[in-house]
Amino acid sequence: MANLEPNDELFDKIVNLCKRRGFVYPGSDIYGGLANCWDYGPLGAQLKKNVKDMWWRTMIQEREDMVGLDAAIFMHPRTWEASGHVGHFSDPLVDCKKCKQRFRADELTPDSECPAGGTHDLTEVRQFNLMFETQMGVVQNETSRVYLRPETAQGIFVNFANVQTTTRRKLPFGIGQIGKSFRNEITPRRFTFRTREFEQMEIEYFVRPEDSDRAYKEWVKTRHNWYLDLGLNPEKLRLREHEKDELAHYAKGCTDMEYFFPWGWGELEGVANRTNYDLSRHAEYSGKNLSYFDPDTEEHVVPYVIEPSGGVDRATFAFLVDAYCEDTAISAKGKEETRVVLRLDPRLAPIQVAVLPLLKNKPELVAKAKELERTLRRHYLVDFDERGQIGKRYRRYDEIGTPICLTVDFETIEDGNELFGTVTVRDRDTMEQERVAIDDLRIYLDEKLKIE
Ligand code: GLY
Repeated sequence: MANLEPNDELFDKIVNLCKRRGFVYPGSDIYGGLANCWDYGPLGAQLKKNVKDMWWRTMIQEREDMVGLDAAIFMHPRTWEASGHVGHFSDPLVDCKKCKQRFRADELTPDSECPAGGTHDLTEVRQFNLMFETQMGVVQNETSRVYLRPETAQGIFVNFANVQTTTRRKLPFGIGQIGKSFRNEITPRRFTFRTREFEQMEIEYFVRPEDSDRAYKEWVKTRHNWYLDLGLNPEKLRLREHEKDELAHYAKGCTDMEYFFPWGWGELEGVANRTNYDLSRHAEYSGKNLSYFDPDTEEHVVPYVIEPSGGVDRATFAFLVDAYCEDTAISAKGKEETRVVLRLDPRLAPIQVAVLPLLKNKPELVAKAKELERTLRRHYLVDFDERGQIGKRYRRYDEIGTPICLTVDFETIEDGNELFGTVTVRDRDTMEQERVAIDDLRIYLDEKLKIE
């Protein structure tokens, strides 16, 4: 049974690992950081890319009913009037006149303590729109005002007719895209979980209205299975259907996929039935016909939309947290020690294979390992390390989730030796070692790394 108690110590350890090993750095670090901004380092950038690649591959490339899109972040300002974001996309905000801090009104309780002493002295509740505004072009006036998109979804809706016409799709079909979105959250927090700049992977799946309930259920299942297939612990992943009063202004139904983070349950993804709200509104505001002509029934219908909307940063962090383990291992010297290991699915691991010469000061071993590294880099995410004792190097790769270490030793290069041309292959999870011929490595690694 998974331990479902919040665990601050675990959270600190993971955040520390992220910074120490180059998964995530504080944004603008040399200037003292910028609140709530994070930069993905070499390992984090690759991990996040692997998450996005798996999504794109399974949700778009492998499905005949899906196509991809990459719409601009800036959109015509009317988009956000039509979508309802100008009118409705706000959080209730209060200021404390004593401590000068801002809060979301719905997150404060009457007895919340004020850092300036006693309870807060709060202003009236104001609605605070979460969209970031900026000016486009050099002249600042009302018409040059644009927003940074608060969701990628609208880029898909405004392209519905373009995509349908150019790809000649029949319902049901979906459009997916991955991209940055921006929300001026009042209370951003929890590392990369809630940030003002974040990345989404969103699908808008267009169906006939009468098919929407069935498609909604199917997408909840599909997206739930996606997280499970990539290794999330089923006991820490739950589905939660929204109450009617929680639903966004456009939604008929919504199910959240929530993961148990070290601080408690948090949303990874929502699957919503957005009805035909968005297409109807854009048709009204743009004056364009956004209905679909069904050649089978010879009817014009405005499709309903099922929207699986996932957070890339949240998924990336959930995979990282879920993979984090502390094992007790026996060292080469027979001592009991704690081993930190990220049991990441090999398809997500930022380094899949580490190539290690047994000893740094033997040029023939280093040269052979370098040659192997160069060959394997064409096929896998590979790293090379010659520094330090081999056991310590294995531990360093365990800590960043590298599934396979390959060690080049004297047997590898000694002609006439029965192990000539083989390397030691060490498995991250079992720590078992076996000899594999270099000539067989591609087949061996493809299987171990789940490469199809
Ligand atoms: N498109 C839904 C959301 O961004 O929450």
